[in-house]
Amino acid sequence: MSDTAARTGASEQTSPAPGTRTTTTTDEHVSLAQGWVANNYSPLPVVIAHAEGAWVTDVEGRRYLDALAGYSALNFGHRHPALVAAARSQLDRLTLTSRAFHSDRLGPFCRDLATLAGKELVLPMNTGVEAVETAIKTARRWGYEVKGVPDGRARIVVMAGNFHGRTTTIVSFSDDPLARDHYGPYTPGSTWCPSATSRPSRPRSRTTPSP
Ligand SMILES: Cc1ncc(COP(=O)(O)O)c(C=O)c1O
Repeated sequence: MSDTAARTGASEQTSPAPGTRTTTTTDEHVSLAQGWVANNYSPLPVVIAHAEGAWVTDVEGRRYLDALAGYSALNFGHRHPALVAAARSQLDRLTLTSRAFHSDRLGPFCRDLATLAGKELVLPMNTGVEAVETAIKTARRWGYEVKGVPDGRARIVVMAGNFHGRTTTIVSFSDDPLARDHYGPYTPGSTWCPSATSRPSRPRSRTTPSP
């Protein structure tokens, strides 16, 4: 498919040569995404259109067992009726409060989650990388205020071969060239620890540059 066709979503109407595969709906969706979506991921060429429980169906009707489960965000399965009903009911009452106000759901949610997980407090986040960033901030502040680490000298020990997301601090902790290269200057304050999955081309242990 040409660049123009990819960006407009138009399928090309040329006749395929005998014996060659015609352009599929999957190809068209993949081309459209390649034409319009920022290139920060390399997904498998499967275009999912519908799902129920552990099964997903692509745009051409093929069914797959979804063993990835949204990297565990979907451990209850796709479109779990109780979760869909709860989401619908919330959207029918209130869209968003922001943290500028209290919400009648936030306190009970955090109480129930903390009780379930055996934790004292809950800080809901939108993404995994925000959770890791918050853990880093919490550990550093504890280090300075409780442990007595001299200000600005805290170091976070990270495993070689780690992946924690794509913010600037997190890619500073990465030794994966794809995640890290050309996003510097990097956040200082980490020490790499070798792991069984260390990439051989990288130093076994390395620290980010000091400020
Ligand atoms: C192990 C791990 N940590 C952190 C993240 C970042 O999560 P998010 O994309 O929600 O920020 C991911 C995302 O793929 C992950 O696989």
